Amino acid sequence: MNLPNKKIAVFRREHFNAAHRIFNPLWDDKKNAEVFGKCSNPNYHGHNYELVVKVVGERDPETGYVIDMKRLSVITEEEVLERFDHKNLNLDTIYFRDLNPTAENIAMVIYDLLRKRIDEKLELQVRLYETERNYVEYPA
Ligand code: NI
Repeated sequence: MNLPNKKIAVFRREHFNAAHRIFNPLWDDKKNAEVFGKCSNPNYHGHNYELVVKVVGERDPETGYVIDMKRLSVITEEEVLERFDHKNLNLDTIYFRDLNPTAENIAMVIYDLLRKRIDEKLELQVRLYETERNYVEYPA
């Protein structure tokens, strides 16, 4: 059967828990609390992050895959979960020493980590849920 050579999207969903504090080090605790609310609690707090990795491209003629999902799972495990799961994003990782760990910034860091492991002919998009109702997508 002849199918058109069209792009198709595949998705891998992952989950990690991490703690963070969102704050601007140039501001005092009072101003941080005013701007960032509970997410600026000085003693940190946790989120159950849901990550959806989207890969878009044409199917490989030999496999019928856009990308081997097992490989995508391993890449996500190695690049994201091993770095961030059960970690304090501010203190335990190098990425948020000077970068506020907002969902926006976390998603952009995750994108960069995954991008270098995925064939450049494939498009990549990262969706990160910080709560059930709040999520970000990059690239937009
Ligand atoms: Ni938070």
